[in-house]
Amino acid sequence: MSQKKQKLAGSYFGDVPILIDFLECDVAWSSDNMKKDEVFRSTTERTSDFEFNSEVADVFDDMLVRSVPFYLEQQRMLKDIAKKFWIPGSCVYDLGCSTATTLLGVCDDLPTAAKLIGYDNSLPMLEQAKRNIARKSLQDRIEVKYADLNGQLPDIVLQNASIVTMCWTLQFIRPLRRDDLIRWIYQGLKDEGILVVTEKILTNSGHMNRFFVEYYYEFKRSQGYSETEILRKREALENVLVPYRLEENLELFHRNGFEIVETFFQWFNFAGFLCVKKPASASVRRGRDSD
Ligand SMILES: C[S@@+](CC[C@H](N)C(=O)[O-])C[C@H]1O[C@@H](n2cnc3c(N)ncnc32)[C@H](O)[C@@H]1O
Repeated sequence: MSQKKQKLAGSYFGDVPILIDFLECDVAWSSDNMKKDEVFRSTTERTSDFEFNSEVADVFDDMLVRSVPFYLEQQRMLKDIAKKFWIPGSCVYDLGCSTATTLLGVCDDLPTAAKLIGYDNSLPMLEQAKRNIARKSLQDRIEVKYADLNGQLPDIVLQNASIVTMCWTLQFIRPLRRDDLIRWIYQGLKDEGILVVTEKILTNSGHMNRFFVEYYYEFKRSQGYSETEILRKREALENVLVPYRLEENLELFHRNGFEIVETFFQWFNFAGFLCVKKPASASVRRGRDSD
């Protein structure tokens, strides 16, 4: 078994091997050169607001795999979705691209004619992304650039897109700017284009939230995080990460134009949304209307 497979097979939630389905999949993620996330290990430092700085960028791939349940399975699903919805001659955009994991994964399964563009406002993340892209010699196909999604959206190029992905990023955008952002994405998409969003979500009932959060902490413990690390990261994210309820996200996508909005993934407080600008054909519309 390769180093990558051993590491994945060793990822358990309780007694359940959480990444088992992923073992044979080929995504960009790799355990090579991956530094362990120990950002919140210290018990003495005061916790400050979470930032996507160089310390975080350095260990980010490990942080994501150990902090987002089924992250690698979601990456595999994104590849499937991209294969289905990519339109020849169009572009793929990843907003909040971090270290380019999604771009590299999606690129792998699309024809070489497909051009991919990633935006992020963290320079350390973009540096890391460029290194990962260069390691795979994909500079001709994937470009990553600085852009602030809280800023002047008309100044950022998003056009001729068939696929826009935004994984675990909308939750970091100011709530007051989210409508503008979704509307801007909608306008940059081709008619049959899609937006794929993954987000942490709130439950409708505070009572259930307690259980869901506890299941999540259990997941983090199973990934080797200590109680201190779990608590300190939670404090650091408190003012920075603002999740919506599932319905609030669905409404956000619908009211900004998307005709079809579905969830394609959910694990307790973690959800994935697939939003289609316009149905591909009348048959898709008929299927939806007869539900
Ligand atoms: C949780 S990470 C995204 C993970 C990544 N999409 C993935 O699945 O591998 C959130 C990313 O959004 C970026 N980000 C946060 N606020 C942003 C903003 N206002 N404009 C652009 N990027 C932003 C962060 O720098 C970070 O890289």
